[in-house]
Amino acid sequence: MCGIVGYVGPRQSQPILLAGLSRLEYRGYDSAGIAVIDGGGDLGMRKRAGKLKILRDDLTAHPLSDGTTGIGHTRWATHGGPTDANAHPHLADDDKLAVIHNGIIENFSELKSELVAEGYTFRSETDTEVAAVLLGREYREAGGNLVEAFRMVVARLEGAFTLLAMHRDHPGLVVGARRNSPLVIGLGDGENFLASDVAAFVEHTRRALAIGQDEIVAITPEGVEVTDFSGDEVDVEPFEVMWDAAAADKGGWSSFMAKEVSEEPDAVANTVRGRVKDGAVAIPELDGLDGLFADITRIIVIACGTAAYAGVVGKYALEQWARVPVDVELAHEFRYRDPVIGPDTLVVSISQSGETMDTLMAVKYAREAGAKTLSICNTQGATIPRESDAIVYTHAGPEVAVASTKAFVAQITALYLLALHIGRVRDALTAEQAADNVRELEAVPAKIQQVLDREQSRIEQFAHWMADTRSVLFLGRHVGYPIALEGALKLKELAYIHAEGFAAGELKHGPIALIEPGQPVFVIVPSPRESAELHKKVVSNIQEIRARGARVIVIAEEGDAAVLPFADEVLRIPLAGPLFEPLLAVVPLHIFAMGLATAKGLDVDQPRNLAKSVTVE
Ligand code: M6R
Repeated sequence: MCGIVGYVGPRQSQPILLAGLSRLEYRGYDSAGIAVIDGGGDLGMRKRAGKLKILRDDLTAHPLSDGTTGIGHTRWATHGGPTDANAHPHLADDDKLAVIHNGIIENFSELKSELVAEGYTFRSETDTEVAAVLLGREYREAGGNLVEAFRMVVARLEGAFTLLAMHRDHPGLVVGARRNSPLVIGLGDGENFLASDVAAFVEHTRRALAIGQDEIVAITPEGVEVTDFSGDEVDVEPFEVMWDAAAADKGGWSSFMAKEVSEEPDAVANTVRGRVKDGAVAIPELDGLDGLFADITRIIVIACGTAAYAGVVGKYALEQWARVPVDVELAHEFRYRDPVIGPDTLVVSISQSGETMDTLMAVKYAREAGAKTLSICNTQGATIPRESDAIVYTHAGPEVAVASTKAFVAQITALYLLALHIGRVRDALTAEQAADNVRELEAVPAKIQQVLDREQSRIEQFAHWMADTRSVLFLGRHVGYPIALEGALKLKELAYIHAEGFAAGELKHGPIALIEPGQPVFVIVPSPRESAELHKKVVSNIQEIRARGARVIVIAEEGDAAVLPFADEVLRIPLAGPLFEPLLAVVPLHIFAMGLATAKGLDVDQPRNLAKSVTVE
């Protein structure tokens, strides 16, 4: 939820921290702050409510003296509103200690009462300041040993946290700890970094270490030491970041979202790349793991938001190709309803960030209940894949805009590869059937590109005309249904207007009452060649809403003339098999939501109240 960065090395830290924060701003953007141990050994701190730009302008107008050790934070408020006082860092130990935090300390009020009773005072409403004051107290107890003090503090904390701290008495040292919240180390030459996400330091180094659960890390310019919460040294897993800083830059695009929508063809192509051999699916990460799929009797897909809609699309492919019953569940619902699962269940989690707390907790729950777990994730070194028995990474590249777009098509692609793999392992598919579907999948990137090339400016134009629209409905059937849900979610989160997605067959059971003259309705129409029966049904649904005055915008296959008499607008997608249509039909909906939000003058990268990585339950 919040973004965290720490630096130690020979360079001035402020520009490094601010650049890192700007790459982490997607994680939260209601306040930001930095603290630096300056050349004279003093600790300076500046924090401001509002976006990072406000902090940056403040630092330009009233410079803070710089130094080579620093920490920075960008916040998504949980405890206490987005004010200067509640922004991080929080100071303690007579302002010699600075602390930043991501997560929620669940027992903070109990700890606060204990500290207040001892005479400590507080300047904010945050749970973080409680951790800072506690750390200050334990630092003295530990005779000025910051790592030891951390160990004492984490033993008292309940909940999820990544904490970073530095103390004026120890220039050149930043200490961090994590539980259920992300933290990665960037290894430089004579300098080291800590951050919530590799994006914060990838312009300086692509060598990284993933820190495990319940571990403490101390970085100095010379090295890195990782221990567990009991003080035992632990081996950390090194990895090379697979993309460079340019991939996380906006480039010449007007927004990250515009750039990321344009990258949807690559997201599919890169997720397939290296996983097809001689026409057959061969996923290197699953080598030797056939046992994971051989005896399962069911699959449960868990995810949240857009990732859950990718899961619903995946369900159709998993059931059709692997012939295993599949349920798709919102992770937060799954976790708390005592689900019936066991060793015969494969739980597939989907998460772009790999840090969504609801999904992480559901994965842990599934593991503890004896289920097999597989993670589909876009972020190397993230927590969810580390907690799973197997991983299939999506290779969408860094997704910065809060609204998920290219990760969505990459998630569907990974699910399709997995479905084909399981289908073959379980003999539910012949080699030939699998090869046909692989060919279809390989053709998708070029088809998405056609949609972008042919339809983008037209969709942006009518999104502009619809800027005053107050409500939009989305209808789909079969795999078109989750695409309708995704279209509605994108519009809600970006344009702040009422939007709902329905299964088209459900319309007559209630939602049709919403239709009044002029009501815009997007309808995703299945192929008349591939799904003639469904196509007829959807065309009937279109007639029903049209008869009641709806303004109908259809997304239909090239050459489908049956929709023409009933549609106000027709957006065309290239011919594709039924299971491959969602990868094409979603593209106009992403463009539409972005176009309408842009027409309303809204920030499409950082919509209000949201954060990209939801690391609280
Ligand atoms: O990082 P994750 O894929 O686990 O995130 C899940 C959802 O929070 C995410 O898809 C959210 O719904 C997006 N803002 C949708 O655009």
